[in-house]
Amino acid sequence: MRQTMRLTADAAGLAEAAALLRGGGLVAFPTETVYGLGADATHAEAVAGIYTAKERPSFNPLISHLASFEAARSQGMFDATATRLAEAFWPGPLTLVVPVAPTCTVSDLARAGLDSVGLRVPAHPLAHALLERTGRPVAAPSANRSGRVSPTDADHVLGDLDGRIDAVLDGGASRVGVESTIVSCLGGVPRLLRPGGVPREAIEALIGRRLEGAPEAGSSPLAPGMLASHYAPRAQVRLNAESLLPGEAALLFGPDAPRGIEAAPSALNLSKSGDLVEAAAHLFSHLRQLDASGAGTIAVSPVPETGLGEAINDRLRRAAAER
Ligand code: TXA
Ligand code: MG
Repeated sequence: MRQTMRLTADAAGLAEAAALLRGGGLVAFPTETVYGLGADATHAEAVAGIYTAKERPSFNPLISHLASFEAARSQGMFDATATRLAEAFWPGPLTLVVPVAPTCTVSDLARAGLDSVGLRVPAHPLAHALLERTGRPVAAPSANRSGRVSPTDADHVLGDLDGRIDAVLDGGASRVGVESTIVSCLGGVPRLLRPGGVPREAIEALIGRRLEGAPEAGSSPLAPGMLASHYAPRAQVRLNAESLLPGEAALLFGPDAPRGIEAAPSALNLSKSGDLVEAAAHLFSHLRQLDASGAGTIAVSPVPETGLGEAINDRLRRAAAER
């Protein structure tokens, strides 16, 4: 057990967070997608601490976060497509998997021994300030125990990791609410490894071609987000519910209420107006709240598969998967 500090979003909090990271500590920090559990990516023991705190299978590669595209260029090699994507969407909710640069300092452990590296320049001002002050790539998966719902505020982080990490930098609620979109740019073929905060349509419009899917298992490691059961609340999750069964809690989307809503023990709406951006921002915190209500099952209204709906439905399917 260690004492976990809650650091405030000011100069003193940032200085403390950066000092902890530079000293090999574990610091959770806000990004525009979800809170990340950060460690100095160049420091293998510090990175090992992430896997221990999260109880995460150690073969998964982690995303390394940087303050700028400039800093990212010394870690990875950007072909024409990767460069266009970085210029268009960074800082922002996009992760690029690119070949390692000769000057790459990200530890083997953070890359899970691969000759590629996952890089992201987050848009959150506190994340940016922290990365500038730390001056090193910061490896950061979502700041939750492995397989649990991702955290979108500091209380969620402490609920999972209090006593296991050195500090959490409290920056309020995350704006986007789902993790970054992961695109690999290896061998000249851009592939969507995980849908996320940047919609597929925006990426395809920019590069003028369709994104391939993830390669077959075996040719590259599976993302943890690809594990069948992931982002899982304690309750069962039932998708595309047009009506509610007795005792079910309801996760709604849009203006229409499902039949049986009057009897639901608890109900929350991702977005009454049917706005997918608002829905993504509420997804994980609403799942946590409905889970905490004690209902055995959370019934979820249908969510359209366009824009951020692809990432929302991806997370919901994993939350609903057999475990
Ligand atoms: O929004 C986000 O991306 C958040 C915030 C904190 O930035 N981070 C996040 O990290 O979701 P994590 O560790 O949960 O997801 C990392 C993903 C994994 O699916 C991993 O397989 C993939 O990135 N990844 C990283 N490096 C890779 C590589 N070299 N090859 C293939 N996949 C890679
Ligand atoms: Mg995660």
